[in-house]
Amino acid sequence: MPSPDFSTLIAAARQARQYARADHSRYAVGAALETADGRLFTGANVECSSYGLSLCAERVALVKALSEGADRFTRLAVVTASEPPASPCGACRQMLWDYARDLEIVLAGSDGEGDPVVTSLRELFPRGFGCEDL
Ligand code: THU
Repeated sequence: MPSPDFSTLIAAARQARQYARADHSRYAVGAALETADGRLFTGANVECSSYGLSLCAERVALVKALSEGADRFTRLAVVTASEPPASPCGACRQMLWDYARDLEIVLAGSDGEGDPVVTSLRELFPRGFGCEDL
């Protein structure tokens, strides 16, 4: 089990998942991103009739946070109905790498059953490409 401290973050991601606009895939995702100063930014996936324009929950949360001036991120919770719980897609890993390299990440189920999985962006995205490579 993750530390009890994760429970607030997971609950926020679970709540955000309720607002997923997933009419096409029927696969709802919720995310909650925490800043070093304790603020929480949530996101849900937002799909589009032109499928490729759809946005993942993680990037919605990240862009909300960045566009409101947040810039130091510590933890991310991702909630899906998958078992074991799903982890961020490659595009999200890349964008998180650019802005939140040291993230601790917890992956949790939507129903509270099953153990959350604790990992990190460095584990999920080894040897990532970044601005230092440009
Ligand atoms: N999705 C996310 O929100 N996050 C991910 O990391 C993986 C996929 C969304 C995108 C799409 O709306 C749905 O899940 C199915 O791929």
